[in-house]
Amino acid sequence: MIGKFIFVSLCLTVFVQLLPSGSSPRKEQIPAVGQKLFGLGCHKEKKQIDQLVGTIDALKKVPAKDTIADMENALRRERANNQELQVLVQKLTKKLELCDDKRKIFNNYVLESFLRNSPYSGVDNYTRYTVARLGMLPIKNVKPLISKFGPVINDVLSFRYPINIPSCPSVAEITNNTWWNPSVFIALISAPDHFKERNDIRETWLIHLKSVLEKNLLGMGTRFGFFLGQTQNDSIQKRIEEESQKHGGIVQIEMDDSYRNLTLKGIAVLNWVRQHCASKVDLVFKVDDDVYVNVHNLVHFVRSNYQSNNSLFGYGNFGFYPIRMPGYPEDYAKWDMTFQEYPWSHYPNYVNGPSYFMHASVVVPLLAASQTNPLIPFEDVFLTGMCTEKAGVKMRYSAGTHSVFYRPLPTVPPPCDLRSFVGWPTDNQFVTHSAVDDFYRNKTQCVVTESDGTKKTIDFTAPVVFKFT
Ligand SMILES: *[C@@H]1O[C@H](CO)[C@@H](O)[C@H](O)[C@H]1NC(C)=O
Ligand SMILES: *[C@@H]1O[C@H](CO)[C@@H](O)[C@H](O)[C@H]1NC(C)=O
Ligand SMILES: *[C@@H]1O[C@H](CO)[C@@H](O)[C@H](O)[C@H]1NC(C)=O
Ligand SMILES: *[C@@H]1O[C@H](CO)[C@@H](O)[C@H](O)[C@H]1NC(C)=O
Ligand SMILES: *[C@@H]1O[C@H](CO)[C@@H](O)[C@H](O)[C@H]1NC(C)=O
Ligand SMILES: *[C@@H]1O[C@H](CO)[C@@H](O)[C@H](O)[C@H]1NC(C)=O
Repeated sequence: MIGKFIFVSLCLTVFVQLLPSGSSPRKEQIPAVGQKLFGLGCHKEKKQIDQLVGTIDALKKVPAKDTIADMENALRRERANNQELQVLVQKLTKKLELCDDKRKIFNNYVLESFLRNSPYSGVDNYTRYTVARLGMLPIKNVKPLISKFGPVINDVLSFRYPINIPSCPSVAEITNNTWWNPSVFIALISAPDHFKERNDIRETWLIHLKSVLEKNLLGMGTRFGFFLGQTQNDSIQKRIEEESQKHGGIVQIEMDDSYRNLTLKGIAVLNWVRQHCASKVDLVFKVDDDVYVNVHNLVHFVRSNYQSNNSLFGYGNFGFYPIRMPGYPEDYAKWDMTFQEYPWSHYPNYVNGPSYFMHASVVVPLLAASQTNPLIPFEDVFLTGMCTEKAGVKMRYSAGTHSVFYRPLPTVPPPCDLRSFVGWPTDNQFVTHSAVDDFYRNKTQCVVTESDGTKKTIDFTAPVVFKFT
């Protein structure tokens, strides 16, 4: 029991005390924009380390165990020293400006073992844990967007965009808007070498988007941009520049583009939208470049939900849990999450990343939350799970018919399916496009069987009603 007491009190102390401490984080896991994303710290503290080595050695004698019961047993063996150990541990937590290896030893023995596989207990605990683990320091010269969210640890407002597109026009700039219509900014998440994906989108559903605008079905402020990071490959970079000259619509973010950097990219996109569009559109649609978008349903969605302030809409992922390598197939490695990074058994509820909407009023609160919440490499868990929780955003989950997103659909979905969703993952192939086209030209029909066995053909012109929980 004494053992348990030590660990409980230790963890609580750690949570309370650890915000401003210092050590450099593991760069491969928490991406940075230069050094600005972190306070680098850990310089003044070096001197104190030597004094604490003896304490650490005492802790080292406690073997790492998986369960609290094991930890207790191990500690029971140390009973003779417990009184002394407890005093040392308290001293240690007060001076957790430990650096590097010493901090890791402490973290591995105490924090991670104690929390391992416990239920997720909220974004604030995640923040306290990770800030303590990595020794993140607040960034002093960056003003928080929302001060009650706590100290700024990620500099999310300093991204640069070497290739850019014009801002969304303000209502005053749209001189020939005969009537007011809701508008949406479409953020298409792409990667440097995805030339084919971008071309496919230009040749398929973006054509429909243009015709929707010509027909005045959406506000004239509606715009889109492909967002990509940087590449080390000069020939790819040259092609991107040519593509931008030829077609426009490309925003290149000054950051390395990689799967584990998608969170950073999502934040950079939000910051771009904050600077250029958030005050001028009603909704923001985030969609990946391998998703096919049914523009008819996009229009229905925007026209029926543009007044939903403070809401984020998507296909809900509930009860998802972290993948711990090894034991999973090799191709799951990109989702690997160590117990140190994330000791809890489950992720918070979030929405499926490839396609979701947010009301424009959510952009600044989400960015504010990402200023103060340590990054996790999964963009959807981070932004739509943790940051929405912190920012108090209203989550609107859709599932089944008719929903914002669906997977998996075949490349050529049956008419009833393609009528039901705003987006679904495909390679934007032309056959998908033809299938959608055929349906809206009434060449194919969606026929449903009623409960009494009669068949009913769904009117392809009828608006789709999206339901959310
Ligand atoms: C954070 O963790 C502490 C300690 O485990 C727990 O008592 C508290 O309820 C948690 N906070 C939330 C919001 O769940
Ligand atoms: C109205 O605005 C749209 C979009 O800016 C433009 O394409 C169109 O040519 C304009 N029409 C007239 C009559 O000015
Ligand atoms: C750059 O990309 C091109 C096209 O993908 C590839 O053929 C070439 O080998 C790459 N160059 C380098 C230096 O990686
Ligand atoms: C993410 O991008 C940053 C900024 O360009 C870079 O420093 C970091 O190495 C990248 N991380 C990964 C995992 O690609
Ligand atoms: C909803 O948000 C818009 C800006 O996005 C704002 O102009 C409007 O006042 C808000 N409405 C309510 C009811 O808060
Ligand atoms: C669509 O096609 C079906 C079957 O050919 C036909 O019965 C229906 O009247 C058509 N609907 C419209 C609006 O043209």
